[in-house]
Amino acid sequence: MSFTYPGKDNKPALDGVDLHIPAGATVALVGENGSGKSTSAKLLAGLYLPDEGQVLVGGVPTSEIDRQAWFSRIANVSQDFYHWPLTARMNVAIGRTDADPTEERLTAGVRHADAEDLIEDLPRGWDTLLARGYQDGHSLSGGQWQKLGIARAHFRAGQILVVDEPTAALDAKAEQQAFTRIRALAAGGQTVVLITHRLHSVRSADLIYLMEDGRVAESGTFAELMDPATVPDGRFRDMYEIQRAQFASDDDERAVPLQKGPTVT
Ligand SMILES: Nc1ncnc2c1ncn2[C@@H]1O[C@H](COP(=O)(O)OP(=O)(O)OP(=O)(O)O)[C@@H](O)[C@H]1O
Ligand SMILES: [Mg+2]
Repeated sequence: MSFTYPGKDNKPALDGVDLHIPAGATVALVGENGSGKSTSAKLLAGLYLPDEGQVLVGGVPTSEIDRQAWFSRIANVSQDFYHWPLTARMNVAIGRTDADPTEERLTAGVRHADAEDLIEDLPRGWDTLLARGYQDGHSLSGGQWQKLGIARAHFRAGQILVVDEPTAALDAKAEQQAFTRIRALAAGGQTVVLITHRLHSVRSADLIYLMEDGRVAESGTFAELMDPATVPDGRFRDMYEIQRAQFASDDDERAVPLQKGPTVT
């Protein structure tokens, strides 16, 4: 499918992109800034309609099924997901406004997101207004909002979970936990579309698409993309190696202050 944002008529954001997303699979979209990952996710979710091509679900074009019904099957944990100036309760319950926000469902959502303490520590618990600059308003950090976003997605209980950079604001440990939880959603039969810059996180994906300038440059499993025999050009492999060097130097830095006692070899 192809798509050009209004006012950018010369430069399509997506140019002949063909993505296959098997039901129940975890599919990763990776690639540089502006390569078209978020745009692909928005077309998939039906937020925008493609200029050329279509989104098919089980062979049926989404344009032929009720837009509301299709939208209702998708849960988003997005880069630009909204921080509503509402209570903590409403910020989770807004995930699905036609569902009863019972204590049980809300609690299951925050437990899933490892955000139970976060809610407990709020001055008025679930009834705390999450808004800076309002009377009695309480500010959350980026990482805390991300956790609430995962709770919201759990409450929404969509069949397709679109995760666009969920962990950008999380620390390393919280990131690991967030991915574990996202994988748990996938294990429950949900289809997961995971958009991330951290290639370390996509090793266990069923399928990886490397996007480049609005096109799919490479696709396959992690093992396939890392294998010079399968992908001689190896752009994913190059990116992964650069990031691996980064992990290694991070590890070195972390290791230094720990070397207090005698080194055992
Ligand atoms: N709302 C918009 N209006 C106009 N152009 C847009 C809009 N959103 C994205 N674009 C353009 O479309 C192209 C693809 O953007 P997209 O957001 O899909 O990239 P991305 O792969 O998600 O990047 P990132 O890793 O930075 O999130 C870019 O050239 C971008 O400038
Ligand atoms: Mg993006």
